[in-house]
Amino acid sequence: MSATNRIKAATVPEIIARKGHDPLVCLTAYTTPIARITDGFCDIVLVGDSVGMVLHGLDDTLGVTLEMMIMHGRAVRRGVERALLVIDMPFASYEESPQQAFRNAARLMSETGADAVKLEGGIAMADTIRFLVARGIPVMGHVGLTPQAVNVLGGYAVQGRGEGADRVTLDARAVAEAGAFSVVLEKIPAPLADRITADLSVPTIGIGASAGCDGQILVVDDMLGMFADFRPKFVKRYADLAEQAEKAVEQYAQEVRARSFPAPEHVFKDQEKSQ
Ligand code: KIV
Repeated sequence: MSATNRIKAATVPEIIARKGHDPLVCLTAYTTPIARITDGFCDIVLVGDSVGMVLHGLDDTLGVTLEMMIMHGRAVRRGVERALLVIDMPFASYEESPQQAFRNAARLMSETGADAVKLEGGIAMADTIRFLVARGIPVMGHVGLTPQAVNVLGGYAVQGRGEGADRVTLDARAVAEAGAFSVVLEKIPAPLADRITADLSVPTIGIGASAGCDGQILVVDDMLGMFADFRPKFVKRYADLAEQAEKAVEQYAQEVRARSFPAPEHVFKDQEKSQ
C-alpha cells in the first residue's frame, strides 16, 4: 500500500494530545507480518535499532546501519496502516551535527515512509532535535538508559539513581523543550519516571520505567518470549514462542526421520485439483 492511499493513520498532534489521558500502546516491529499484528492494537509502532540484536544476532546496537534500518522500515511500513510509524536513527547517523542528522533522518523518512524518527540522547542532542523539528521531521526522544552509549555507560544498568536523577530529568526536559513529540524513558526508577512524566508537556513512553508513564513500549520479540534465556525484570512475557517453536521443529525432525511426514494428505495424487 502506498503512502497516499493508506487508511487514516495516527498523527503526531494526536499522540501529543494523549498526554495525561489513556496510555499509549507501543511495540517494536521489524517485519511485515509482525507489523500487521501490532498495527491492530498499537498507537505507535517503532522500528527499533534493537533489530540488530533481535534479528541479526549482534552483541549491541552499534553495528546497525542506515541501510538495515531502511530495509526493515520498508517491511514494517507495508504492515502498518493506522499506528504512527517511528524509526530509530542508528548509531553514528546523527551525532556529528544537526546537518548530518537531517540528511539521514530525511533519508529514513523518504525511503521508508516512516512518520517520525527516534534518536537517543538528552541535553547533547537538544540542538539537533530543534533543527530537525524546524525542518519538518518529528522526533521522539530517548533518555535514561541509551543503549547506543553502552560503552560510555559501562553496560545496561538502571540509570538515574541517586545523583543521576537530576541528569536524566534535565535530559528529558531538554529533549521535550527542543520539540520532541514524546520521550522514551528507559530503565530508570519508577518514582523518577513519575516525576519526569509530571514535568513534561509531551507524553513519556516507559520501558523499565513506570506504569505512570503516558505510554509503554516493549521489544516485541521479548514480550513474545522469542529468547528463552533473556528474562530482564522489566519484560513481561505474554507468550513463549521460542519454546513452542523448538517443540514444533523437534516434532518435525522426528516425523521426517520416521517418514511420517509428509502424510498422504500432504502429497499430490496423479489426478487431483492442484493447490
Ligand atoms: O530499539 C529499540 O527497540 C528501542 C526501544 C526499546 C525503545 O529503542
